[in-house]
Amino acid sequence: MKDKLKQYIEEVKKLQIKSLNDLNEFKNKFLSKNGILNSVLNEFKLLSKDEKKEIGKYLNEFKDLVEKIWNENKDLFKIKDIKEEIDDLTRPPKQLELGAIHPLSIIKNKIIEIFLRMGYVVVDGPEIEDDWHVFSALNFPPDHPARDMQDTFFIHKDPDILLRTHTSSVQIRIMEKQKPPIRAIMPGRVYRNETISARSHCFFHQVEGLYVDEKVSFADLKQNLFFFVQEMFGKDVKVRFRPSFFPFTEPSAEMDISCLICHGSGCSMCKNTGWVEILGCGMVHPNVLENCNINSNIYKGFAFGMGIERITNLKFKVKDIRLFSENDLRFLNQFVSVVL
Ligand code: PHE
Repeated sequence: MKDKLKQYIEEVKKLQIKSLNDLNEFKNKFLSKNGILNSVLNEFKLLSKDEKKEIGKYLNEFKDLVEKIWNENKDLFKIKDIKEEIDDLTRPPKQLELGAIHPLSIIKNKIIEIFLRMGYVVVDGPEIEDDWHVFSALNFPPDHPARDMQDTFFIHKDPDILLRTHTSSVQIRIMEKQKPPIRAIMPGRVYRNETISARSHCFFHQVEGLYVDEKVSFADLKQNLFFFVQEMFGKDVKVRFRPSFFPFTEPSAEMDISCLICHGSGCSMCKNTGWVEILGCGMVHPNVLENCNINSNIYKGFAFGMGIERITNLKFKVKDIRLFSENDLRFLNQFVSVVL
């Protein structure tokens, strides 16, 4: 065995590894499971104590040599390999996967951009709210149905802590902090305890707007919203206001636009009426101003609120709002190159 080992040592010392191929051959011959190193180690185990003493140093020398050659070369060729790849400038480049902006974000950003042009600022507020900011300060009577568990998600069974059901809560937060003039929009996520279907979800997104100053009128409200709709949907779209009711605005209205899907001939989006409701609005109720320590004899305001999902449905002709939260890449990738 001693002679065999000496022979191997000589052989390994003479080896010249010049390529990945040489290295692989070396690895197979000496280092693989059935390679020479393993076989001499197994043979060594069977020797007597005295023989082991004599032969051990040759075995160690052989083992060290093989390992040294392997360690010195293994990374060298890996690097060389990569370098060769990079050096070939004719190689086709690796494809970069492009992400898409979520359709709701595309529309939200567009809404923000339009209102920024009209002098509004963007304000944020918390999603976990208290009763005051979501209901009481907004003039909801104590027994209003929106406060019911059917509509509102409460946290820890505490009736004072809840998930906001609309971003109107942010109106209160701004008016409590800032004196008029106030001109702000408030985009954000809201929660309602509703059955999930193509048209409703337990969470969705709104952009709310508020303008408070000394001489704000309903005519200003109509003009601002009319400008918004034209910028968003084009000059041909028609608009109508219908009287409505919200506890926090008086008078209140809902704004419809002519259906962009069927252009008035009737479809499921407009329930065959030719009109689609896109937002609620009105003059801020004097009680709401007073709740925020704003003198309602001096200041007037208007407010409006729209669902981002509804606007996105109309703009991109999406019929099922569940698509927005299912993370299906086949849906989302359709928006990769959308620029509004
Ligand atoms: N907060 C109302 C809603 O969620 C929308 C609204 C906002 C209506 C402001 C009037 C004024 O439906």
